[in-house]
Amino acid sequence: IAAARPAAATSPSEVTARVKAQDTVPQLLMSPPDYFEVAYAINPWMKPEQWSLDAKRLSRDALAGWNALRARYESLGAHVSVKPAVKGLPDLVFTANCAVVLDGKAVMARYLNAERAGEEAHGQRMFEQLKARGDIDAILHTPEGVYFEGAGDAIYDAGRKLMWMGYGQRSSRFAHHTIEQAFGIPTFSLELVDPHYYHLDTAFCLLSGGDVVYHPAAFTEEGRAQIRAIVGDKLIEAPQEDAENLGVNSVCFGADVVLCHCSDALRATLEARGYRVHVVPLGSFNRSGGAAYCLTLRLDNLYKGRTRGGE
Ligand code: ARG
Repeated sequence: IAAARPAAATSPSEVTARVKAQDTVPQLLMSPPDYFEVAYAINPWMKPEQWSLDAKRLSRDALAGWNALRARYESLGAHVSVKPAVKGLPDLVFTANCAVVLDGKAVMARYLNAERAGEEAHGQRMFEQLKARGDIDAILHTPEGVYFEGAGDAIYDAGRKLMWMGYGQRSSRFAHHTIEQAFGIPTFSLELVDPHYYHLDTAFCLLSGGDVVYHPAAFTEEGRAQIRAIVGDKLIEAPQEDAENLGVNSVCFGADVVLCHCSDALRATLEARGYRVHVVPLGSFNRSGGAAYCLTLRLDNLYKGRTRGGE
């Protein structure tokens, strides 16, 4: 294994050290797929007419996949909070979009598409409850007309102390101002150029050791060059097969990486860098353009006093 590893990539011992430094249990927010379906098309993966041909089976499959994902997180030591599903809001299941949370503050989503705008009020209510309980200090919003789809387009990089942001498909370029003001950290904005990779999280995955798995074709040439410059040897190009199956949309805590698809090549790369790979198939959600990361919102940084440290 050691020989296969490029010199400056994350070493397994580095990952182990990070795991030890993580004294908090990962706090995740999920919402069950009780009313999940593909009822409209706001990205190229979504084909409502195909869903309706086999809706019953696909709904059953969604529930099984969601339960398996939750069970996997829990077996890996995470704590999962559940946000209730709402009839008529099928994409509420994708909790990564409802906000981005850091340092006792939440910046709430402002959805581009009318189909998802109804989710905003539910997210707001839930975070207001957390605020009333004293878990968070502030609930912030982007200005009107500045779209922002939460952690789907805002990925916090604790090691580099910056927020990676996606724009050009859903979130507005200007959303970065709100993030910078809210969290007092620099942002790094990447333009998304392929409608299949409409959120940053569909083409860019940050692992706990600072490694980044990405799908180059989702970005501009300039964006790719900037990613390479910042991430260096910790950059992993996703095999085409993984990108096309939304395997890049994965969740990492400690040494564990949970994804819906993993080619042998990607598995070998991840294992050589000290990660453990967990595959949980999420076929029904893939039909909505979503996978593991979309179904999960990190709340780790929500609780006051638990921030900035560690990583
Ligand atoms: N159907 C949803 C949409 O198009 C999927 C969202 C997936 N979420 C994500 N963070 N990539 O908005």
